[in-house]
Amino acid sequence: MHDHHTRTAKIVGLGTSLPARVLTNADFERMVETSDEWIVTRTGIRERRVVGPGESLATLAVEAGQKALADAGVDPREVELVILATATPEQPIPATSAIIQPLLGATRAVCFDLSAACSGFVYALQVARQFFSTGEVSTALVIGAETLSRYVDYTDRATCVLFGDGAGAVVLKAAPAGEGILRVAWHTDGTFADFICMPGGGSRFPPNVKEHVDARLPFIKMRGNETFKVAVRSLAEVCEEVLTGAGVKVEDIDLLVPHQANIRIIDAVASRLGVPAEKVFVNVDRVGNTSAASIPLALADARAQGRLKPGDLVLMAAFGGGLTWAASLLRW
Ligand code: UT7
Repeated sequence: MHDHHTRTAKIVGLGTSLPARVLTNADFERMVETSDEWIVTRTGIRERRVVGPGESLATLAVEAGQKALADAGVDPREVELVILATATPEQPIPATSAIIQPLLGATRAVCFDLSAACSGFVYALQVARQFFSTGEVSTALVIGAETLSRYVDYTDRATCVLFGDGAGAVVLKAAPAGEGILRVAWHTDGTFADFICMPGGGSRFPPNVKEHVDARLPFIKMRGNETFKVAVRSLAEVCEEVLTGAGVKVEDIDLLVPHQANIRIIDAVASRLGVPAEKVFVNVDRVGNTSAASIPLALADARAQGRLKPGDLVLMAAFGGGLTWAASLLRW
């Protein structure tokens, strides 16, 4: 229904930000009952970055955004739209995208945040793309940023080893159909809203009530094993949906950039799709699960390693809380 746009968007700049502080598996061995061996074999994660004093969602998002603008050679005053995907905003009011607007110098841009957990970046790209299709916008900045370490329960070994902080940003410019974003599929199923959630900190269990904190409500919770199974199935299905919709064969994909949650999920999705390992990008070992920042961080790493070349067909796929899942096919 939507591959006849005459105008789409393409990525013309990338930027990232990772906090300096590293948490290794050895650090977790000192905090909870776990082992480097369990974490590596069950998740593929070796280390992740976490924010320290003076750092927060806004500091990461600003650095990533500034780098992306510099990379694109775009003046911040040209930006007409900023969408920041995050599940861990700077504060509830105002939107983090508004807080960072003056720091970026994106003074003309309309700014809003988007909440779709780990699928946030792919959702935000798709939302931004609509404004390019209608002709409303010609330059946009899309940021995926997350500081999950601020909500991780460091007494829960089943979740605390998984998550890391970071931010990735892309600058989008208008492009004719056939370049840039070619095809997108995105889905939500709130039936499983409790699979990955943070029950406290919002309207139902506000953060300013001591009992809610004592009951550890404003902490991230996950039903890991059930989530794992839905993640593999949904990621494979949404990739196939996009490929079929675009009329592209899986062999034609140059690089698959999956959400970096767990190496076993990535491997299972790649093998279901029939994508060989050398075409699958992996950096979960170094950053862990950075939620909305995962895919833009992976894109930037892939480019730095020479694995993203102009003309490449790139398939990105994300899955996370909501549940949400989405895939986007791009001509790089
Ligand atoms: O980003 C959004 C999407 N997120 C995901 O897709 C994450 C999906 N889930 C996963 O990646 C995996 O389910 C986990 C890595 C979270 C867990 O791996 P699993 O193979 O599903 O393990 P499990 O939850 O079934 O637990 C197996 C065992 C349990 O012990 P028992 O009950 O068998 O005695 C856990 O208590 O592993 C235990 N366990 C741990 N052991 C050592 C759980 N966490 C740890 C740990 N260290 N950190």
